[in-house]
Amino acid sequence: MHLKDKVALVTGAAQGIGKAFVQVLLGKGCKVALVDLNVEVGKASKDDFDKQFDEEMTIFIPCDVSNEEKLKDAFEKTIQHFGKLDILINNAGVNNEKNWEITVQINLISVIRGTYLGLDYMKTENGGTGGAIVNISSLAGLMPAAHQPVYSASKHGVIGFTRSIAMAATAGNYGVRINTICPGFVNTPILQSIDKEENMGQYSAYKDKIKDMMKFYGILDPPLIAEGLLKILEDETLNGEVMKITTKEGIHFHSYIPLPFQANK
Ligand SMILES: NC(=O)c1ccc[n+]([C@@H]2O[C@H](COP(=O)([O-])OP(=O)(O)OC[C@H]3O[C@@H](n4cnc5c(N)ncnc54)[C@H](O)[C@@H]3O)[C@@H](O)[C@H]2O)c1
Repeated sequence: MHLKDKVALVTGAAQGIGKAFVQVLLGKGCKVALVDLNVEVGKASKDDFDKQFDEEMTIFIPCDVSNEEKLKDAFEKTIQHFGKLDILINNAGVNNEKNWEITVQINLISVIRGTYLGLDYMKTENGGTGGAIVNISSLAGLMPAAHQPVYSASKHGVIGFTRSIAMAATAGNYGVRINTICPGFVNTPILQSIDKEENMGQYSAYKDKIKDMMKFYGILDPPLIAEGLLKILEDETLNGEVMKITTKEGIHFHSYIPLPFQANK
């Protein structure tokens, strides 16, 4: 996909990985809707981008992605403002093992809902012109995480949903590619949640074990994750892929045993 003049919606765009995604998309000439719950940081990020790019290139839409009506409204506002939607990045996520239901709600249910909304607007059978959806999972979606079981479950769910809906997209000729990215630890504010009882609940006592894991695996920088995003968006052959990004192997793909029958073959 050529990215110039495409329109992207990025959830969780105010900071961290989402903000790095916006930076590279703008650099490629995309227009971007920054969707985030955090109004203060979201506005400040839009101001940052306005110093580098024409202010018409971005819009900040305050939105809690776990609120169905607000999420629908964010899509409508994006289309009203930019006239179309070509790229959707379902990136907003939390680490909360205490109030664990919101982790499932934000990390998985909202990603599923966002994907369906994106397909409604982009798929060719609905008059859309096709596009690409990228759902952000984690290495914790491919392996157990003893002290973040619900986070791990939510991210496993993102991978299972994304691989399955990607097959449905091929079988149904949606014209939309759907892939997922699984980064290892990344240097963003979410890492601070490990130290907070309100996030870790019964697992608070194990925070040093998670920090040991960070030391073992190393910590990535957000621009590398954004490089992985561009690779997925620009390579039209990729659909249903699980991209892993680690300090040891950089950007690479998870390999699965071929299925005996595939809906898309
Ligand atoms: N940082 C890591 O180590 C790491 C590793 C693997 C995967 N991830 C995933 O990457 C994604 C981005 O995380 P990050 O590291 O940039 O974290 P972050 O906390 O820095 O940023 C997350 C953003 O999502 C927003 N957000 C949270 N809940 C929201 C909601 N209900 N509605 C709208 N916006 C909401 C926050 O306001 C914030 O701007 C998440 O899905 C996370 O699980 C992060």
